[in-house]
Amino acid sequence: MARELITGSPEETAAMAQELGRGAGPGDVFALIGELGTGKTVIAKGIALGMGIRDDITSPTFTILEVYENPLPLYHFDLYRIDRPGELDGLGFDELWYGDGVSVIEWADRAGDRLPADSIRIHLSYAGEEGRRIVIEYPAD
Ligand SMILES: Nc1ncnc2c1ncn2[C@@H]1O[C@H](COP(=O)(O)OP(=O)(O)O)[C@@H](O)[C@H]1O
Ligand SMILES: [Mg+2]
Repeated sequence: MARELITGSPEETAAMAQELGRGAGPGDVFALIGELGTGKTVIAKGIALGMGIRDDITSPTFTILEVYENPLPLYHFDLYRIDRPGELDGLGFDELWYGDGVSVIEWADRAGDRLPADSIRIHLSYAGEEGRRIVIEYPAD
């Protein structure tokens, strides 16, 4: 199942993401795929807020992973600096991706076949300056 929408502002994207966060449950993986500046971090922030996390969220570009303690924990990944999926092996991310928190993964395409098959894939692309085309692809069950 897939849902496609065009948002006209960052606020609109954030509001949509907050809904995703409100509905998120243990083990959910949100795989964000899209070029620089398309709104992956805007979505990560929205999901966090929807989950009740009040912390300031920034892309963990240099640390790859940021953990937010919460009744439902959030694992925020940024795989920008990962060049090959094999670089992820042995880092222990699987335990989190298949664990009881919620994972949000920016640059998820860099994980290649390491990405859990049942991830919710969110594709972002530019649709004008303030417009973004967002396609949310839910895993088949
Ligand atoms: N419709 C929109 N949805 C999301 N972000 C938007 C939109 N229109 C403009 N922007 C801007 O695009 C930028 C997206 O940045 P960011 O979320 O950090 O991108 P990424 O993490 O994908 O590199 C922000 O500066 C945001 O204000
Ligand atoms: Mg980002």
